[in-house]
Amino acid sequence: MNKNNQNIKENIKSISSEILNGENYSRNDFARSILNYPAMMVPSVQEPIIEKLSDALKNNVSLLDPFMGASNTLVTGMKYGMNVFGQDINPLSILLSQVKTSYYQIDELTDAEQRVISTINSDTSHIIEISFSNIDKWFTKDIQIELSKIYRAICKEPNLKIRKFFWVALAETIRLTSNDRTSTFKMHMRSIEEINMRQVFGIKTFVSVCQKNIKNINDYISVLIKNDHIKDGKYIKSADVVWGDTNTEIRTNKTFNLLVTSPPYGDNQTTVTYGQFSYLPLLWIPVKDIDNSISIDYLKTSQAIDKKSLGGEIKEKICDIEERVFQKSPTLKKFITNFQNVERKKAAKVTRFINDLDNSIDVMLPKMRKGSFLVWTIGNRNVNKQIVRNDLILSELFMSKGIELFTDLEREILSKRMPGRNNFSDTMSKERILIYKKTN
Ligand SMILES: C[S@@+](CC[C@H](N)C(=O)[O-])C[C@H]1O[C@@H](n2cnc3c(N)ncnc32)[C@H](O)[C@@H]1O
Repeated sequence: MNKNNQNIKENIKSISSEILNGENYSRNDFARSILNYPAMMVPSVQEPIIEKLSDALKNNVSLLDPFMGASNTLVTGMKYGMNVFGQDINPLSILLSQVKTSYYQIDELTDAEQRVISTINSDTSHIIEISFSNIDKWFTKDIQIELSKIYRAICKEPNLKIRKFFWVALAETIRLTSNDRTSTFKMHMRSIEEINMRQVFGIKTFVSVCQKNIKNINDYISVLIKNDHIKDGKYIKSADVVWGDTNTEIRTNKTFNLLVTSPPYGDNQTTVTYGQFSYLPLLWIPVKDIDNSISIDYLKTSQAIDKKSLGGEIKEKICDIEERVFQKSPTLKKFITNFQNVERKKAAKVTRFINDLDNSIDVMLPKMRKGSFLVWTIGNRNVNKQIVRNDLILSELFMSKGIELFTDLEREILSKRMPGRNNFSDTMSKERILIYKKTN
């Protein structure tokens, strides 16, 4: 093996388990705390890997995250002055990532905050701005009135970038004040007794979220300034986030030399329902303020985004998919052919998901330059009480495309925000970080 590659591997393997397990990470970490998006990557875990690969790429990096979620990968890349590009199918991920990758002057945020609060306080209207079936199930009347005042005040702000900041704060306020339980990502109403007992205040919550978020953004921007990555009020490199379905395309003509991502571990419905988590906030945020190019009807039902995500749609006969993916992954074939009847039907979801994942890799690879690194954090899961070895399957998919595993790491999940239930049992307590190198 070439000496340079050997050095890179040794460097990566030298990252301590303490860092990898996120033992010292802080909940107040700038990148995590402006909206509690599900299954966020822990920046302090990714950082040493990104840093070492950046060294290997002579600090001239264009980073892609094709499943960007809360964009923690992107902001970590920005800390190192990289060109960053992220894509996701969930409009809430886009909005959140737009805010996290933008440069805000703190004065403009604090001035806007005062303006918005004063507009809210002088608003005496009781008109409800949003209507959808079941609104009274998910929000008490008082909260509907308060959220409507916030909505009107944000709409009055002339600057789109500033409005985006407040829409994120409104999204977090909705998460904290709706009747939906915060303990699961699936929509699940609190009991009537609990709703009647609970004391929640929309405007008070919004104000405290805004203050916390301004502080977090300020902390992060200070790091970018300290690292000389801001010039003339702008990030010195490019930072783009785009809505798109990674199963079919990466919506850019750019190419990249580093891919860092954590894909879903299965179809959303049976793993993490990113879409359901986002549904109530998205009902309150105008799409024109997120991205006009969004081409799915994501508000049609609370399941719409999850159905459009990897493994969510039935597009082809399962036998046709099996024929194709079983050839690429013997591990998947062994897993599926283990089952019969109802269990086999249930396991078909895994095949559909892996097929979509495989398609998405085919979409990504042409965007990756020769010599680029691809870092995938992936965990296993249970289906029919048996472990789906996502880690082995992923490497087999890459092998079928002529790409070998370059090196790998393992981490215990101590701090990632995951649903602590059913199919994420103890097999989910570990994740593997698989690093591939594209050699041609
Ligand atoms: C585990 S999260 C990503 C975490 C992220 N890397 C971070 O640093 O926070 C997985 C993301 O994949 C997205 N996703 C699922 N299917 C997708 C698809 N077909 N196209 C684009 N994004 C998709 C989900 O919306 C979700 O935000």
